[in-house]
Formats: sequence, C-alpha cells, structure tokens
Amino acid sequence: MSSDVVVGSRVAVVGGGVVGLSAAWLAASSGFAVTLVDPCPARGGASWVAGGMLAPVTEAWPGEEAVLALGSDSLARWPDFAARLRADSGADPGLDEAGTLVVAVDGADAEVLRVLADHLAGLGRAVRSLTGRELRRLEPGLGPSVRCGLDVPGDLAVDNRALLTALLAACERRGVRFDRRRVASVDTGRVHLDDGSTVDTDVVVVCAGAWSGSLHPALAGLIRPVKGEILRLRARRGALPPPSRTVRALVEGRPAYLVPRRDGLVLGATQYEAGFDADVTVGGVRDLLRDAERVMPGLAEYALDEAVTGFRAGSPDNLPLIGEVAPGVLVAAGHHRNGLLLAPVTAEAVLAMLRGDVPPESARVADPARLAAVSR
Ligand code: GLY
Repeated sequence: MSSDVVVGSRVAVVGGGVVGLSAAWLAASSGFAVTLVDPCPARGGASWVAGGMLAPVTEAWPGEEAVLALGSDSLARWPDFAARLRADSGADPGLDEAGTLVVAVDGADAEVLRVLADHLAGLGRAVRSLTGRELRRLEPGLGPSVRCGLDVPGDLAVDNRALLTALLAACERRGVRFDRRRVASVDTGRVHLDDGSTVDTDVVVVCAGAWSGSLHPALAGLIRPVKGEILRLRARRGALPPPSRTVRALVEGRPAYLVPRRDGLVLGATQYEAGFDADVTVGGVRDLLRDAERVMPGLAEYALDEAVTGFRAGSPDNLPLIGEVAPGVLVAAGHHRNGLLLAPVTAEAVLAMLRGDVPPESARVADPARLAAVSR
C-alpha cells in the first residue's frame, strides 16, 4: 500500500457480502470514510446462501496445511469479532459454539475419516473418534446407518443471515455510505459503475466474491465461480428437533453437512465447476436429501423452505487473495469454502493494509503476488 493512505482517506469497498461488510465496518470504525458499493448489500452472493460453518479442522485435507493455519487463526478471532459486532450493532450475530461431528456411513467413508484423523493428529490436532452408538448418544436424531465419526468441538458455526444483518447495522452505525449501483470495473482511484458514472476514491477494496475476477485486469483468471446447491429445512410441529451440533457426513463418498438453526437446519452442499449456472438441479436436491436422510431419518418430516444456488469464489490454490494488486487497489476475495470463517482475519488484514501496518502473519500466504505467474 502507498504510504499516503491515512485515516480519513476515502475507501470504496466493492461487494456487500461478509468480507466486504466486515472490512467496511472495521475501516469505518477506524476513521476511514467508507463507501460500500453493492446493489444488494448483505442479501446477495454466497454469504447469504451459506450454511455458516466455521470449520477449519473438518475442512482440512492433506496438502492444504496453509488453509488450515489461516482458518485456525481466523476461528480464534471469531469470539471477539462476534462480541464486538454485537456491541456495535445491538444485534445477535448468531455465533454457535456447540461444535461439530463428522460421521461416516459406509466402510470407505470410515476410512476417509481415519485418514483425516491421522492427518490432524500428525499436525498436533488430535480429534476424538466415536462409534455410531456414542454418536447417537450425543445426537439422538442420527440414524442407524451412521457407523462411526469424529468429535471436533472446536469447529463452530454462525447463522450467516443473522451475521449479515448485524454487520449491516454496525456499518450503518459507523457511518458507512451505501451506493446501490452496479460495478463494472475498478482501477486506481476509481470505481466504474454500469451506468457510466464513477465513484472517486483513494483506495478500492475488491470484495466481490466469485465476481471479483472480472473487475480488474490483475484478477483476471484468478477467481472463478464454484457452484453449490444448498437447502433450508424447517422442523415442523411433531418432527424431531434439529441436531444441537453441526453434523458433517460422508455418505458413500458424497459430503453433506447439516448446520442447525433455531427452527431447522441448512443442508449443503453440492460442488461443481459449472461457471455461473444458477439453476438448482433435480439431481443436486435429490442427492442432498437422500444422503441427509441416511444421516438423520427424521428429516422426512421437515418442510423444504428453500433450495438455492451459491457461487463460492474459487482460487487456483484454495487460498484467498488478500493484498494489493495495483496502486491503491486491494483485493479480499477468493475465499472458496471459507468466506464466513475467514472474515475476521481478512478484515483485520485489510485494515492493517489501509493503515500501512503489518497484516496478521497468518494472512501472508494470501498475498496475491504468489499467483502472478498464473495471471500472466
Ligand atoms: N463452506 C461449505 C461450502 O462451501 O459448501
């Protein structure tokens, strides 16, 4: 970042999902004059449709140790982030600290969990293995098909919609200005809008998720949409209550997750490389419901309230891009499956860069410069 960016400077944040709102909130709280540009802040994009898992450990996989380290740092920031947000917004951001179970249905699924448990133990993050019976004692709604699993109490969840509502309120209280026009592109000192006009600014922060790649030439080819279909189910009168913890499952090799909400649960998610195809497919919904019923048979009594598609912002190495890509142009995007998890550390990193401070050490791996060869 150029050293002439000082508190009081104008900052245009492009994108009103969890990352953009969090960055705007912290920047405005620190004295920057922030304009957030998004036609539908807090309502569109992946943040709105997400399940809300804050789950670096249960998302971990061999070869992705940097993702785990970054996620773990951000998770450690979550309780303070939520407490501060609650105080600033007057709204409950919906942090759920009940923990996570990962369960397996067939023998191959159990073997995958064993590999995950060994990998985590090798990193000094031992998790507890449980039998099917032990799992059912913790979560009586789990069905007889569940044969074994892992208890990961440190992986948390958040009600993403409560969070977005709280962030919007906190931004408003801190004086963030909202510009509800559509963005065409950005460059140094300017946000170009679809209507041909511009927003002049000192710094631009691109937080437009899967759409970020088209906004500045330095981001072309670095961020792509990764389609996911996700369902919201409501517990009807007489139905079994939702699980008290997040339940992640492998069902004959297919992953699914059930993230509890006050009145039901979020069931996700498919994952395809299908560009911006927003259709919810019959096959996607069928697979999610069939697999979830194997895990929790009582779900058949639930109401299906919502079936939607979201677009994760994929990057070439599954790490986000957080840093400067041109003079006065920052990016904070490419969070793939972990936007909600990584919001606190991302917002802190953006704030540090705006101030000319050193970003959190864990965020160094997200420096977009690492991908320069890919974008050429
Ligand atoms: N974070 C879970 C997902 O992307 O489906």
